[in-house]
Amino acid sequence: PRHPRLPPTDQPTHPSPGRVRARRGLVAVRAEAGVGGINPSIRKEEEKVVDTVLAGELSKPLTPYCRCWRSGTFPLCDGSHLKHNKATGDNVGPLLVKK
Ligand code: FES
Repeated sequence: PRHPRLPPTDQPTHPSPGRVRARRGLVAVRAEAGVGGINPSIRKEEEKVVDTVLAGELSKPLTPYCRCWRSGTFPLCDGSHLKHNKATGDNVGPLLVKK
């Protein structure tokens, strides 16, 4: 879709899912709406998936949080990114939060 308030040169692009587009020194990756987005199945009934973590209350010194949206224990990483990376050639991994 076009965004009429932006000049033609600033029109956002909508590449294929996972496609990376570099412009003016920036790299942007966009998920296409209508094909499920980046989140295939986690809490889809919610308008937006947001979680809050108090780092001081973590039980372990290092806690991995999922960034691939495929964890069965979301928002914690369960290692599912390994299967995703192998199947797709992607390179995603968790966010490690230190206590
Ligand atoms: S399971 Fe998603 S980053 Fe590890």
